[in-house]
Amino acid sequence: MWRHPAIRPLSREHFTALSLVRDVRWAAVSGVAYLRERAALELAQAWRDHLIAHFDAEERALLPHMNSQESQELLSQHKDLHGLMAPLLASLASGQPPQPGDAEVAAEALESHVRWEEQTLFQGLQERLGESPWLSIAAELAGPAVSPAS
Ligand SMILES: [Fe+2]
Ligand SMILES: [Fe+2]
Repeated sequence: MWRHPAIRPLSREHFTALSLVRDVRWAAVSGVAYLRERAALELAQAWRDHLIAHFDAEERALLPHMNSQESQELLSQHKDLHGLMAPLLASLASGQPPQPGDAEVAAEALESHVRWEEQTLFQGLQERLGESPWLSIAAELAGPAVSPAS
């Protein structure tokens, strides 16, 4: 699926998120407690270290260009995912093993969210937006400009 260059960084991160989802699923199928726990903690680490920033970047860069239905859907899905990831983050912080099933539920929701963004949200934005909003989206996703050393 063709992706506008401005949001390719987000799509690359989606690819990484889906591979974490697959790891959680395979670990669940294995039935091996150690593998399930490891996959759950890897998902929690990725959430803490990368995915929270990814969600924030989407809200910052894309919300101004979304219609109200898209905005409501994005914010609602992000809120739900923050809630589902919270117990995994707590396990990561405390060193206590995650509850069986928590990672699988969070991973399912993450996969649905990524697929909605790729197939519905990003596709809709690409079909609707002219070229100039993409410049501001790209600039927003690139982050604050670094001042030259003086
Ligand atoms: Fe998102
Ligand atoms: Fe995303």
